[in-house]
Amino acid sequence: MDKKAAADHKITELIAERWSPRAFSDKNLEPEKILSLFEAARWAPSAFNEQPWRFITASKSDPQEFEKMLSCLAKSNQVWAKRAQMLIILVVKNKFDYNGKPNRWAMHDCGLALENLLLEAAAQGLQGHPMAGFSTDAVRETYGVPEDYEPLVAVAVGYVGEPELLEGELRDRELDKRERLPLDGFVFEGKWRQPIKK
Ligand SMILES: Cc1cc2nc3c(=O)[nH]c(=O)nc-3n(C[C@H](O)[C@H](O)[C@H](O)COP(=O)(O)O)c2cc1C
Repeated sequence: MDKKAAADHKITELIAERWSPRAFSDKNLEPEKILSLFEAARWAPSAFNEQPWRFITASKSDPQEFEKMLSCLAKSNQVWAKRAQMLIILVVKNKFDYNGKPNRWAMHDCGLALENLLLEAAAQGLQGHPMAGFSTDAVRETYGVPEDYEPLVAVAVGYVGEPELLEGELRDRELDKRERLPLDGFVFEGKWRQPIKK
């Protein structure tokens, strides 16, 4: 299935090839690939090199742990994420180590780390699908996440399967064209909303 970005301007292949599938195949994840995903996240930039990302993982190869994390997800995500080979919860550390003050770039930096992970997944022939739909309370309770850390986003990872693995609307969405705003809608020059000159 071709879900490659229909880019208007030349971009790196890897960026074009990353997407968020819901139909995952039952092919196992190689352990060394899993480590590469987090190695990629590790090398993301961050304000003051604080590295405010923490990851909790659950692999299909440990069904009890996988079930434990799956149960923290919204039902609407569980229906398809159950097929992933790995689930991840990205947890953000909200305060700077060196002075204990709020780190207002922490979420931003977690986003950078997650995109590194997602691009590495695509480079390894995998895909990851981020999810806001999960219970932060359930994650806190299940994994003992401390007060000054916040569960931010869940991710399902695996090899892409056939859309036929999904039913109804989910299958339709899997086949939908990927859409984005045009550059004019979000790149400005001179003043707010004035599109960049091309
Ligand atoms: C922070 C975040 C939260 C998301 N939450 C969900 C979610 O709960 N369920 C879901 O099916 N997709 C979720 N998505 C996936 C987006 O819908 C998807 O990235 C977007 O439609 C663009 O599609 P693409 O990733 O294939 O380019 C989320 C993505 C991000 C970055």
